[in-house]
Amino acid sequence: VTLLVAVHASSENWTPARWRTRLAERLPGRRIALWPDDAVDPSSVRYVAAWKPPPGLLATFPNLEVVFNLGAGVDALLQDPRLPDVPIVRVATDDLTNRMSEYVLMHTLMIHRQQRYLDDCQRRGFWTPRDQWAANALRVGVMGLGVIGADAARKLALVGFDVAGWSRSPKSIEGIACFAGDAGLAPFLARTDVLVALLPLTPDTRGVLDRRLFADLARDGRLGGPWLINAGRGGLHVEEDVLAALDDGTLLGAVLDVFATEPLPPEHPFWGHPKVTVTPHNAADSDAEAISAYVAAQIVRHEAGGALANLVDRRHGY
Ligand SMILES: NC(=O)c1ccc[n+]([C@@H]2O[C@H](COP(=O)([O-])OP(=O)(O)OC[C@H]3O[C@@H](n4cnc5c(N)ncnc54)[C@H](OP(=O)(O)O)[C@@H]3O)[C@@H](O)[C@H]2O)c1
Repeated sequence: VTLLVAVHASSENWTPARWRTRLAERLPGRRIALWPDDAVDPSSVRYVAAWKPPPGLLATFPNLEVVFNLGAGVDALLQDPRLPDVPIVRVATDDLTNRMSEYVLMHTLMIHRQQRYLDDCQRRGFWTPRDQWAANALRVGVMGLGVIGADAARKLALVGFDVAGWSRSPKSIEGIACFAGDAGLAPFLARTDVLVALLPLTPDTRGVLDRRLFADLARDGRLGGPWLINAGRGGLHVEEDVLAALDDGTLLGAVLDVFATEPLPPEHPFWGHPKVTVTPHNAADSDAEAISAYVAAQIVRHEAGGALANLVDRRHGY
C-alpha cells in the first residue's frame, strides 16, 4: 500500500470509496487502500490521507512518511497523543480559500448594507430606507492573516472597506493595516467595527473571543456597535460571552459558522437568537476533487525530491 485513506463519510461525496477513485485517477500505478475496510500490512503504508482519524491510528504505521490532513484546520488531528513525528500537510487550495473569502465578503456586505433591516422592512411592507454610508466608512478587522485571512482581507479592501489584520508574526500586505502579537491586539480591536475570525484553533487561540476582547472593539463606528463573524473554529469564541455581549449590546450581532459542539445542539440559544446568524460549518464546502489533485501533486513532488507545501508547525499548533 502506498496511500491509506482514513476518512468517515460525512456526505455522499466524502465516502472512502469516492476518495479512492479520485486519488487513484491521479496516482496511477500506486496502491490505495481504505481504512478500516481493506486488509493492510501496516508496514506498507507510506502516506495517510486522513480527516479526524481515531487517536492512535497513525502510530500503527511504522514506515509512515507524510500525513495529509484533508482540511485546512489541524486542531482535531493534533489532539492525538500518539501522533507520529512525521510531516503533516494541511489543505491550502485556491478553491477552499476562494470559498472562505466569499463567505466573509457576503456577511460583511450584509452587515454593511443593513440587509437584515431591509429584509425585515420587506416582510412588513415598509419602504423605509436608512442612511447608507460608503464601504470605506466601515472598519473590518481580520484575525488571522494566513492563507485564508490574507485573501479575505485583500478582497475586502478591493470592495473598499477599511481593512486591518492581526497575526502572530508581523506581516506587510499592501492596503491592509497589519497588527501583530499581544501588543498589536488592542490597537487592532480599537479600530474594528466588524471582527472576522479566521484563526486556527490552538492552545493560544482557544477562547480568545471572549467578553474582554468584545469590550475592546470600536464603539464609535457607523454601525453603532461591533459585529463578530467567526468562520475559524468554534473553540475560538466563548459561547456564554457571545450571548452576554449580544444581550447587553457589547456586540450588535454575530455570524457564526463554527461551534464548540457540531452539529449545534437543537436546544442551543444561538439557533433562535435574533442577533445571531448560524450557518452549519459550510463557510467553505471542501471540493474533494481539488483536494485530491492537491494531495496527489504533493506525493508526486515529494517522490521526485521536491519540498512538501503547507506543512504544519507543531510547536505553534497550526
Ligand atoms: N469554516 C470553515 O468552513 C473553514 C474552512 C477552512 C478553514 N477554516 C479555519 O480557518 C483557519 C485558518 O486557515 P488558514 O489556511 O488561513 O490558516 P493559516 O494559513 O495557518 O493561517 C493562520 C493565521 O492565524 C495566525 N495565528 C495563529 N495563531 C495565532 C495567535 N496565537 N495569535 C495571532 N495570530 C495567530 C497566523 O499567524 P502567522 O501568520 O504569524 O503564522 C496566520 O496568520 C483554519 O485553521 C481552520 O480552522 C474554517
